[in-house]
Amino acid sequence: MIEMLTMFGAALTLAACAPEGKSQQQSGRTMGGGMEMMGGSSGGMMSGGMMGDMRSIRGLLASHESIERRVEDIPNGVRTVTTSKDTEIAKLIRTHVRQMKARYENDQPIRRMDPVFRELFRNRDKALLEYQDIPGGIQVTHTSDDPQVVLLIRQHARHFVSEAAEQGMSRAMRPTPLPEGYRASAE
Ligand code: HEM
Repeated sequence: MIEMLTMFGAALTLAACAPEGKSQQQSGRTMGGGMEMMGGSSGGMMSGGMMGDMRSIRGLLASHESIERRVEDIPNGVRTVTTSKDTEIAKLIRTHVRQMKARYENDQPIRRMDPVFRELFRNRDKALLEYQDIPGGIQVTHTSDDPQVVLLIRQHARHFVSEAAEQGMSRAMRPTPLPEGYRASAE
């Protein structure tokens, strides 16, 4: 029973994240079964990459009630503080941010069903994600010189991450609306 629930959780997490269009094209060559769904065949993500990403995301969503979060606007974006009194969850938050930063840097999009994520990844070279571990979690500064990208960054921080931390999986299953004033044509 527990196993089934775990599998169900994994499937839901995948549905909520819909990783990696790119790797799907390559997956036939490299891996079979469900792995292509996980995006496991994409370059550099072989050893636990995508699996690890999913594990932390699933863990965060499952433990969302023990996560606290604060978002503050700064001139070109946001500064966020995400913490937990549970030391394991605090570690998970730190791991997740590192994993997502790596995705950002390596152009390995995730959650492509969500327009805010699609646009964030499309504009990844215009944004800067910096972090610093703090007691209980992490402080992140996410900024851009492009005002359109700043809109995406703020929308992501408040209307995806904070809501996911508040509501858990049910929020992760829904896409995030593009921010007001955003022109999808920002190149
Ligand atoms: C309780 C749930 C979650 C928490 C607490 C969390 C936490 C965070 C934090 C702290 C950041 C750094 C940016 C910021 O602070 O605004 C971040 C970024 C990110 N998260 Fe999560 N996250 C959660 C769920 C998810 C889920 C479900 C996904 C995808 C399926 C995801 C994908 C990402 C991505 C791609 C980034 C980087 C975005 C960018 O740099 O533009 N997160 N998350």
